[in-house]
Amino acid sequence: MSLDELKLKIKEEIPISSVIGNYLSIKKSGSSLVTLCPFHSDSKPSMHVNDSKKIYKCFACDAAGDAITFVMKYRNLDFIDALKEICQKQGLNFDSYQEEKKSNPKLDLAKKILTKTTTLYRKLATTHNFAIYDEFIKKRGLDEEIASVYSLGFAPAKNSLCDYLGSIPNEKERLEALALALELGLIKPDKNNPKSHYDTFRDRIIFPIWDQLGQVIGFTSRSIRENQIPKYLNSSDSFVFNKRNLLYGFHLAKNAIREKDAVILVEGNMDQVALYKNGFHHTVAVMGIALGESSLERILSMTKNVYLALDSDSAGYTAMERINRQFNEKGIVPKIIEFLPSKDADEFLLAQGPLALQAKIDNAITALDFLLAKLIPEKIPEVIDRKLEILNRAFEMISPLRHNLAATERVVTVAKRLGLKSEPSQIVKNYQDYIDQLAAKEKTLAKFQTKSVPFKQDQEQSLNTLLSNEKKIEEISKEELKIGLSKTEKLLVQELVQLPALFSEEKLPELLDLVSSDEVKKYIGKIRKIVLEIDESEYGSIISNFTSSPEFSDELRQAVSSALFKYKVKELDSKTNNRILQDLKMNLQMEKLKLQKDEIKKQQHACVSEDEMNMLLKKLSEIEKDMQVLKKSK
Ligand code: UTP
Ligand code: MN
Repeated sequence: MSLDELKLKIKEEIPISSVIGNYLSIKKSGSSLVTLCPFHSDSKPSMHVNDSKKIYKCFACDAAGDAITFVMKYRNLDFIDALKEICQKQGLNFDSYQEEKKSNPKLDLAKKILTKTTTLYRKLATTHNFAIYDEFIKKRGLDEEIASVYSLGFAPAKNSLCDYLGSIPNEKERLEALALALELGLIKPDKNNPKSHYDTFRDRIIFPIWDQLGQVIGFTSRSIRENQIPKYLNSSDSFVFNKRNLLYGFHLAKNAIREKDAVILVEGNMDQVALYKNGFHHTVAVMGIALGESSLERILSMTKNVYLALDSDSAGYTAMERINRQFNEKGIVPKIIEFLPSKDADEFLLAQGPLALQAKIDNAITALDFLLAKLIPEKIPEVIDRKLEILNRAFEMISPLRHNLAATERVVTVAKRLGLKSEPSQIVKNYQDYIDQLAAKEKTLAKFQTKSVPFKQDQEQSLNTLLSNEKKIEEISKEELKIGLSKTEKLLVQELVQLPALFSEEKLPELLDLVSSDEVKKYIGKIRKIVLEIDESEYGSIISNFTSSPEFSDELRQAVSSALFKYKVKELDSKTNNRILQDLKMNLQMEKLKLQKDEIKKQQHACVSEDEMNMLLKKLSEIEKDMQVLKKSK
């Protein structure tokens, strides 16, 4: 697409009010949209913004133009930079336009293969009367109309795609297509005969995945038979497809998200399809994985009204908490939609229909209030220290909102509900102290990260003082962070270093939620970024260099260096990777339960009322039960 085409796309497809709304607050006045004109000193809203004519015009100073000229004038940018800024704020990838302009034969071929593959599987679904495909559509409450919107396809239990690619007459083209299909994860090499291939997707319902411009970039596929694993199989990450930043259904949802000024976030592609079919067009799915930073930005550039409608199982709740926090950190407070007793949005709609869902949306409370309510036990503890402990947990939960009124109001409410007698102002002050401490901690950490700032002569500081300062900071921070790794946490770090492929496994985020060491969390977060970028040949030296930074404890450094010693370039299949993660997860869960048990035993010693003692005993037996269950599942 050329820049001219991009310009046209922006003008035609993005409401001008959405572009100007990124900078100014636009209000409705009668049937038109108005705002204070930024180009003269305006006291009443004189600038009119007209979405159907796609222009703005100030009736006082005569400034007028379209979305792009507005951004050029308001932000003082040239044409290209204005386009870039609009793209960035609207979640469009400007670079992809540039790349396309430069004509990239590999990208062109990839697009062609992906489009042809979509057509092939779609054709197989619609013209071959596979009973199992029809059954699936019917059972899931879908029909051919929606199947065609989503280009749903069917991959039978044979090598349809390989046969298709293999029939390309020109040998050079054929080999290129096969090699690229392999890179995109659509076909796999035959172990016994590397020259021959088989289809990745066999006996599966195919869901094409689009980017925001409507180009197919990959596929997910669902099993159709009992015991067929995995349930969902995706094409691999590649230069066109990045699972982490995937929002399934975005290309269909984006206009509705803007129009409704709201977005519903679900967990699975089936849920997205189900909501869309039932008229909730402003829905996107995170596909069971964490919400990537760029997905977050993409959503926030379009709306601040977010509904989290994830699965009602423990993984869904964990994801909800994590995603809620990500939004809270941006000052946004999402609402929650719970589907119990249904498992997810799709099942809820099948059982109760769209009106029931609309009622849930209308009455939704914020996820934060939902989580805070869970924090407060039904029977309020009598012991004050116990109340304060809960209040402290609430502080932690609310802290991403910082000093926001949305935060302090909640802090006071929680204190009241706990029956604490201090004045609200005192509670708020305590909360603010908590936030300040948190900020100080972050600052200490940030100092480490800027450690490699080049040493300037005008910074008249001897190297010695610098070093000793650094040591002091290190000591403080270790103290503050209470470093100390558990056996499994160490093992987790080692496995990840030895098998970087684990970083791409979708199970990883839920594991990280079980890690209690801040250091381990931070370390993993940081090397993940590195691991995905570096080449194998430099792997060992870069990781060990990075780990030698003083911000990490000796314990962690030793664990990593012994893991690196054993590191060999090896790839395991996804099944083995998942087994490793599953084992680690169980061990982490077990350790967590043990920690909880220890904590409760400590509390027993300090306990003063009989009620509290009973509660602790009850908790203890619950933990023990959980431990039994976990042991059995091993
Ligand atoms: P679920 O197991 O909740 O599936 O996984 P679902 O969305 O309800 O699907 P249906 O209704 O059974 O068809 C939620 C999401 O996690 C990812 C998928 O993206 C799925 O939509 N997932 C799940 C996988 O990637 N692989 C799996 O094996 C399972
Ligand atoms: Mn489901």
